[in-house]
Amino acid sequence: MTHFLDINSTDPAALRAMIDQARRMKEARAGRPKGSPDDEQPLAGRMVALIFEKPSTRTRVSFDVGVRQMGGQTMVLSGSDMQLGHGETIADTARVLSRYVDLIMIRTFEEATLLEMAEFATVPVINGLTNRTHPCQIMADILTYEEHRGPIAGRKVVWSGDGNNVCASLIQAAGRFGFDITFTGPPMLDPEPGFLNEARISGVKAEIERDPLRAVEGADLVVTDTWISMHDAQSARERRHNQLRPYQVNERLMAAAKPDALFMHCLPAHREEEVTNAVMDGPASVVFDEAENRLHAQKAIMRHCLGV
Ligand code: CP
Ligand code: NVA
Repeated sequence: MTHFLDINSTDPAALRAMIDQARRMKEARAGRPKGSPDDEQPLAGRMVALIFEKPSTRTRVSFDVGVRQMGGQTMVLSGSDMQLGHGETIADTARVLSRYVDLIMIRTFEEATLLEMAEFATVPVINGLTNRTHPCQIMADILTYEEHRGPIAGRKVVWSGDGNNVCASLIQAAGRFGFDITFTGPPMLDPEPGFLNEARISGVKAEIERDPLRAVEGADLVVTDTWISMHDAQSARERRHNQLRPYQVNERLMAAAKPDALFMHCLPAHREEEVTNAVMDGPASVVFDEAENRLHAQKAIMRHCLGV
């Protein structure tokens, strides 16, 4: 069974094949109405469960639309409405859902929940974000970078801000796709050291630079995300804002990167916090292409998981 649990638990050749297929599928339906079916219907007759234990706009809509374009059907479930929220185990939920559906996508809190779902499901499971990683987002980001600038291998990517779940998947992608990664942020919000070590073992540079202006020197891509993730306590808001303010992506920071550097953000953005309006709406920003590419990348991920 082929799950999609993380970038670093997926074979690099398979990751590359998914990006290339996503691009082909996107090109094949260019200009068509969003609700029109793809020429190929690889998910015909398939049922996909989309489980959300946290809010979502992009993941929810892009998975739902993607399944339908490929001829499948979806059911969108919220964790709190399921018995999952009332004491039924993840393992039993996985066993039961596997009797009804062909594929499960889950957005949850603890990574252990995702892993237990994958262990006990007899159908593929896709990680739609946990507290620790967000691999679907990074697949869309790789697709987006390459559409605009060609191969990402050998490029320098800088993450500025909180070393969170999206940052973790980006660092994993550095090792898998062969680009250098620099993290710039306050020490208390560093990514887990294991992520950087693993990237280094793959042969890429994976560094921490506390000075954001120095960090972005020579950068081909600058990426950030919200200062407070869905799993972070709101009580930490003021402290985190104070710690992260020097790492805001603004025009001064972008001017210190390469002249053709791109800016990415997984969204939702908090304008004038982690990123200014001038950068979000400026010429370097490809944030809405990233959002669109969730659709195309995830269609390729689902085909990979189902082998269709
Ligand atoms: N980027 C992303 O995953 O967005 P949603 O939380 O809206 O799904
Ligand atoms: N880091 C954010 C990403 C949202 C898509 C969060 O986990 O809330």
